[in-house]
Amino acid sequence: MPSPYDVLGVDRDADEDEIRSAYRDRVLESHPDHGGSMEALGRVRTAYEKLAGEGRSPEPDETQSPWDPTVRWTADTEPQSPPEPERRDPHTVEYVDYEVLSDHGWEITDEDLFQKASEANLDPGDYGRFQIDPGRSLLEGAEDVGFTWPFSCRGGACANCAVAVVQGSLSQPVSHILPEELTDEGIRLSCVGHPVTDDLQVVYNVKHLPSVEDLLLPPGPYKRVSSDD
Ligand code: FES
Repeated sequence: MPSPYDVLGVDRDADEDEIRSAYRDRVLESHPDHGGSMEALGRVRTAYEKLAGEGRSPEPDETQSPWDPTVRWTADTEPQSPPEPERRDPHTVEYVDYEVLSDHGWEITDEDLFQKASEANLDPGDYGRFQIDPGRSLLEGAEDVGFTWPFSCRGGACANCAVAVVQGSLSQPVSHILPEELTDEGIRLSCVGHPVTDDLQVVYNVKHLPSVEDLLLPPGPYKRVSSDD
C-alpha cells in the first residue's frame, strides 16, 4: 500500500506548508468532478489526516509486527470511545450571507446580528433558517433545500465554502486546510462540517474575509453559480 507521503507526492521531510500545499493539489486532481473518484479522494484525505496536525504520525515500521506489545499508540491506533447513539432529529440552521453585512454596516461580532438580520426583511437567500438531516454536511444541507452556497474542492482543501459559526457547533475533521488562527475565530468549512448542536447560527460566504482569501482555490468546472462571486 502506498505511504501517505507517496499519495500526497511529498518528500519524507516535507514541512507542514509543503504537505498542505500538496494536499490541496491532490484534492483537486482526485475529485470526482475533476475526473477522479471518491476512492481516490478518500485516499488523499486519509493520507493528509495521517500527516497533518495531531494526526501526524511516523510511517509504520514494516518490519515490526502490529501485535508487538512495544508498538506505540498513535492517533490511528488509540482505542475509540463507544459511538454516540445515532441521532434522528434534524438540526436547525439560521444563516445570513456575509455580503449582506457590509451593505448594512453590520459585523460578524455584533451580538444582535441575527436579530437585526431577522428584522431587515432580507431575501431568503440572504437570511433565513432551514433544517438539516443528521449525517449531512452543512453545505449539503443548504443544497438540499435549494441554496447554492460557495464551494470549490468539496474536500476540505480550500476555504471557498468557509462559514463563521456564531452560535452552536459544527464538526471539523482533521483533513482540513484552515490554520488554527481561523478555527479559533469560529471559521469552519461547510463542505466537511456537520452540525453538532441542535441549533446553529452561521454567517456563510465568508470567503471574502481577508484572512480567508489566501486559502481560496480557483473554482473548477464543477463550480456552482454563486461560487465565483
Ligand atoms: Fe474547498 Fe470546502 S474546503 S469547498
